[in-house]
Amino acid sequence: MAESMQGLKRTMRCGEVSEEMIGKSVTLMGWVAKCRNKGGIVFVDLRDRTGIIQIVTESEGADERWGSLKSESAIAVVGTVQKRGGAVNPNLKTGTIEVVPETLRILSTSETPPFLIQDGIDTREDLRLKYRYLDLRRPELMHRIMFRSRVVQMIRDFLSSEGFLDIETPSLIGSTPEGARDYLVPSRVHPGCFYALPQSPQLLKQLLMCSGFDRYYQIARCFRDEDLRADRQPEFTQVDMELSFVDQDDVIDVNTRLLAYLLEKMPPVMRELEIDEALAAGVEQAGREVRENGIPRMTWKEAMDRYGSDKPDLRFGMEIVDVSEVVKSCGFGVFTGAIENGGMVRGLNAKGQGEMPRKRIDKLTETAKTYGAKGLAYIAIHGDGSVKSSFSKFLTEEELRALIDAMGGENGDLLLFAADSFKVVSASLCALRLELGEEMGLIDHNAFRFVWIVDFPLLEWSDEENRFMAMHHPFTMPNEEDWKNIDTDPGSVRAQAYDIVLNGCEMGGGSVRIHMDDVQEKMLEVLGFTPERASEQFGFLLTAFKYGVPPHAGLAYGLDRMIMLFAGADSIRDVIAFPKVKDASDLMMSAPSKVDEKQLEELCLAITAEE
Ligand code: AMO
Ligand code: AMP
Repeated sequence: MAESMQGLKRTMRCGEVSEEMIGKSVTLMGWVAKCRNKGGIVFVDLRDRTGIIQIVTESEGADERWGSLKSESAIAVVGTVQKRGGAVNPNLKTGTIEVVPETLRILSTSETPPFLIQDGIDTREDLRLKYRYLDLRRPELMHRIMFRSRVVQMIRDFLSSEGFLDIETPSLIGSTPEGARDYLVPSRVHPGCFYALPQSPQLLKQLLMCSGFDRYYQIARCFRDEDLRADRQPEFTQVDMELSFVDQDDVIDVNTRLLAYLLEKMPPVMRELEIDEALAAGVEQAGREVRENGIPRMTWKEAMDRYGSDKPDLRFGMEIVDVSEVVKSCGFGVFTGAIENGGMVRGLNAKGQGEMPRKRIDKLTETAKTYGAKGLAYIAIHGDGSVKSSFSKFLTEEELRALIDAMGGENGDLLLFAADSFKVVSASLCALRLELGEEMGLIDHNAFRFVWIVDFPLLEWSDEENRFMAMHHPFTMPNEEDWKNIDTDPGSVRAQAYDIVLNGCEMGGGSVRIHMDDVQEKMLEVLGFTPERASEQFGFLLTAFKYGVPPHAGLAYGLDRMIMLFAGADSIRDVIAFPKVKDASDLMMSAPSKVDEKQLEELCLAITAEE
């Protein structure tokens, strides 16, 4: 039977009881994490978000219900703090003390939970997500969510001190093109019409700049109907910001300082929340580096050439080497063919992997193929200098030597080559590099390596749409020097856009926005918008820009990704209180779900196909 807590006032949380309180009376409330009955003396681990304290009944006169407490029940205890009678528990903050209870109130008895509430349990994720509120009681998960809250507070403190105003923007907005697919919300009042949930507050924050707020930020929920991955959820949170009368350097500068601030403030919180000590030390080290040297910048082109990716993982080397010049007139048709078709030949040197078994090389080939490569050519240099290669029969001895030299190949190395278009070569070598880096133990998982990627291309060719698409979005300012080439060579025009990348993950991105109407008009034309369609879809923005728009720029971080990276989690699901699974459903609330006929009727909607 549940009891009331009337007349009791909690004096502190479980983890806050300390040796200074020995001899004093405390009133604690929390959950029964463990209950052991040892010959009449009952030991209860009482848990709340701050940790665990041991309650020990004395053999005489204790409430007999102590012996049959059910795990996960919520209880209140009034008792006296004493030095531990038994062995000290070095794993607990409260490991040297215990509480002898005088009063027990069972506030709510728990049924047997569907899984053990303990870190390191091997329970299926779908079961844990169905009972997410129980899974969140596990210290590790709870600490990550608490860490997230603390980091958000740090972000607010910093941005507020820099003059940013926190302004909310609506969640029911109009659908705009480009980007991912929208989530739509039908309107009852306007049958046949839909709101869209924002993919980001992009246009609204630009309008706030038009209004004159000067510096805006928001911890903003964003919605994108796209395929999910470990670092993608259909709804996620951005730390979104926009600034007026600034250029790219100003945005990068204030954000580098924000990151330095976070790196300085996070380690003590990580320690308090028992997030891995090695990670906390890694964050501390990164903080020192960022404060001393800032965050390096790399152009998009350089990142693609050296790492095959616009989000390079700089925690290890193994850079891509272009050997097109070396092999362009060799006898291997795969190589020369690719070059003749406007492609290239590039390779990786997997140091010390010269004896890799054929089976492993085949597996790497499969990886390359999933990124569009037609094959993977290799040269294995054995310890004695002898060479085994999948294409040596096509090369003269000198050509082979020249290729090995170009790759810095030494005895014991494995050289891997992809021959294809820039896109395919980059994607496949990037994937191979990451796979090999992990496998060869080259990645320090406690290191934090930041880089600003700048000078992105403005446009990206889409084979699907057979037209250029905006790489960032249609309001991104082109590089002023390149703009003159927009008609002759649109693909070569760079954008004033930048991403902040951490350990191979795109943590955030932004751009300088177009504030000049002629540039905006031209940009929309290049993207294939007729003036009518442009005005239909974002006429409000174009109109607003006629009334004195300030030059402005901004950036948004993926907050979930940021917390995942710093907390050492594998997926953003582990840092979101109520995440969705791969098929975008919520297993706890069983959403999405069917709705009443009546609701559909009200919305004038008819279902034409069902799951
Ligand atoms: P962008 O689309 O690059 O930019 O998004 C900014 C950051 O948000 C994170 N992110 C996601 N996180 C989790 N799940 C997703 N589905 C997801 N999609 C994106 C990434 C990304 O870097 N309005 C612009 C920003 C600007 O220009 O100011 C924007 O939304 O970490
Ligand atoms: P083949 O003569 O077709 O058997 O190819 C010889 C080697 O080249 C094999 O190891 C193939 O995997 C490899 N190969 C084929 N196509 C490519 C490509 N586009 N890039 C790199 N290697 C390739």
